Amino acid sequence: MKDIDEVFNKARYTMKGICKVCPVCDGRSCITGVPGMGGRGSRTGFRRNRAAFERVLLNLRTMHDAADPDTGYDFFGVKLSFPVMGAPMCETTYNFLGKVDDYKFIKAQVAGAEAAGTIAFTGDSPDPPLYGMGLQAIREEAGKKGVPIIKPREVHKIIERIRMAEDSGALAVGIDIDAAGFDNLNRAGQPVAPLSVDKLGRIVESTSLPLILKGIMTPDEAALAVECGAAGVVVSNHGGRALDFTPGTLEVLPEIASAVQGAIKIILDGGVRSGEDVLKAIALGAEAVLIGRPVAIAAVGDGEEGVGLYLKKIHNELVKAMLLTGCAGLSSISPQMIRRVDW
Ligand SMILES: Cc1cc2nc3c(=O)[nH]c(=O)nc-3n(C[C@H](O)[C@H](O)[C@H](O)COP(=O)(O)O)c2cc1C
Repeated sequence: MKDIDEVFNKARYTMKGICKVCPVCDGRSCITGVPGMGGRGSRTGFRRNRAAFERVLLNLRTMHDAADPDTGYDFFGVKLSFPVMGAPMCETTYNFLGKVDDYKFIKAQVAGAEAAGTIAFTGDSPDPPLYGMGLQAIREEAGKKGVPIIKPREVHKIIERIRMAEDSGALAVGIDIDAAGFDNLNRAGQPVAPLSVDKLGRIVESTSLPLILKGIMTPDEAALAVECGAAGVVVSNHGGRALDFTPGTLEVLPEIASAVQGAIKIILDGGVRSGEDVLKAIALGAEAVLIGRPVAIAAVGDGEEGVGLYLKKIHNELVKAMLLTGCAGLSSISPQMIRRVDW
C-alpha cells in the first residue's frame, strides 16, 4: 500500500523546476508566476492564505460524547463523506510546461475525489477542449457528480458552456469571477471581464442548475451574490493567483459569513492543507472547503490513486480534529472550538 509521501516524492521528480513539493504547500518557495504553482499574485496572496490558518488554534476538549464524529455533508442533494472538494485546476501546458497530460490530470482529480467519497470542481481555459474534458471526467468518472467552473467570459459564451454542463448532468455550475483580469484569455481572443449584478442575474435565470460564484473576497460582493440569485460563493483569491496584496481567505471569512447570514452556501479555498484547517474554516463560517495545489501534486504523483490517498488523509485528520475538539457532527463545529491569535 502506497503512502502519500511516496506519491509526493514521485511528483517532486516529475515537477522538477516547476514545483518543489514542499513539506507544507504555503507559497514560500514558489514566488514564480506562471508557469508554476505560484501564480502572479503569489508574492503575498498565497502566503497570506496559509498564514491566516496558522493564526487560528484549536481548543482541545475531551470531556464529551463525540467519540465517533459524523463528517457527512449534503451538497445540493448529494451526500459527500466529508466537506472537502477538489478545486478546479486545468491547463497543464501553461501551468506545468506540459509535463503532464491534460486529460489524465483532470481525470485523476475527478476520479480520485470520487474514490475518497467526495467530488471535484473542474476548470476552464483559453484552450477550448479543456472545459469539455472536465465535463467528460464528471460524466465518465464520477456518475455526473461535479461542478464545472466557467471563466467570466461574455454572457452568451458563459450560457453556451452552462448548456454543456446541463447536458453533462453536472450538479451545479460556477463562474470564477476573479479571473476577470486574466491576460492569457484576452491574448487568445477570448475576452474576460468583471460581470455586473445585472449580467449575473441573467446568467442565474438562464439555468435551473445552482450557480456558484468563485472569487468572493468582500462582504459587499457576498451580499451582491445573494442579490443576484447565486446558490453559493467560494471565498477565494484564486490561491493568490489573481491579484497581489489580497488578504488571506480565512481572514475575510467571518465578515462574509455575517453578510450572507446563511442565505446561500459559503465554501472557502486557499491554503487548506489539513483536516484541522477544514475544522477552522467551518468554525469561522464556511460549510465546506476546496483544496487546490496539493491535490494537483497528488494527481501528478500518482493519478487517481494519489488524489484519493491525499483526500482520505484529510478526511482522517478532520475526524480526529472533531473528536479532540468535541464535535459530533459538522453542525456542532463552532467558534468555541478555536482560538484566534491576532490577524
Ligand atoms: C495550476 C492551477 C490551475 C488552476 N486553474 C483554475 C481554473 O481553471 N479555474 C478556477 O476557478 N481556479 C483555478 N485555480 C485556482 C484554484 O481553483 C483554487 O482557487 C486555489 O488553487 C486554491 O488555493 P490552494 O491551491 O492554496 O488550495 C487554479 C490553481 C492552480 C494552482
